[in-house]
Amino acid sequence: MTATIIDGKKVANDLHEEIRAKAEKLTASHGVVPGLAVILVGEDPASAVYVRNKVLATAACGIKSFEFKLPAETSEAEVLGLVEKLNADPEVHGILVQLPLPKQIDSDKVLGLIDPKKDADGFHPVNVGLLSVGLPGFVPCTPRGSAILIEKVLPDLSGKTAVVVGRSNIVGKPMIQLLLQKNATVTCAHSRTADLPAVCRTADVLVAAVGRPEMIKGDWIKPGAIVIDVGINRVLKPDGKGKLVGDVAFDEAKEVAGAITPVPGGVGPMTIACLMLNTLDSAYRSVG
Ligand code: GUN
Repeated sequence: MTATIIDGKKVANDLHEEIRAKAEKLTASHGVVPGLAVILVGEDPASAVYVRNKVLATAACGIKSFEFKLPAETSEAEVLGLVEKLNADPEVHGILVQLPLPKQIDSDKVLGLIDPKKDADGFHPVNVGLLSVGLPGFVPCTPRGSAILIEKVLPDLSGKTAVVVGRSNIVGKPMIQLLLQKNATVTCAHSRTADLPAVCRTADVLVAAVGRPEMIKGDWIKPGAIVIDVGINRVLKPDGKGKLVGDVAFDEAKEVAGAITPVPGGVGPMTIACLMLNTLDSAYRSVG
């Protein structure tokens, strides 16, 4: 069997169109343009690419962007001061601080200062708590985007087993919450899990978020499973050129899975689309 390739880029582009239409409606009815502030500290090349893509998406979605590129030696106090300023700015409905931050800056302190009502990344402990009890709040973008892709191929997860490989605060833990809300029977596997291949083989839905290139092999996958590959890893090809691969050995996995996301073009564009969605939701909430 060859898997259906889940086209995250197309789903994300369709979402951009919907978001743009809703943003225009909000502007027409209330004079409000959704606004997203993005803070990047330092010159990490991968972070710079992510931020550029996020800012490009705001333009496609009719969202106003406020971009702050600060030098690597910026102090914690300066970043905290900027977050406070953005918290108070009525034109800003979402605030994103790109991670990782340079080591002189305490990320928890910065993320904890963002107004939970503007926390477009959903990393503030208040939003983490709201998600865990199933109340409305901001849901982190990568799990939200992954859940949308899963729903496209398998709308009902009742009676299905889901395995999330990875237990990060950004992806693994919120993904578990979303899958539970959808009535899946969820296992969280990680680096200390015994016989990881056997655990993965139980999954009707397998979410790989480990950050290790092509770690999950074809024979770890249950035939017909939905495989969501969150990994974005840059590896060197034999010719010395770089290429992006996921956490799943795609060529093997697509021969076993029922549906699978590619890298690039799967979860990545959905993460960005959900950042736009979170900003739009926040702008709507701001008008009551
Ligand atoms: N760094 C890697 N992924 C993310 C993300 O989803 N949000 C932020 N702010 N930084 C990241």
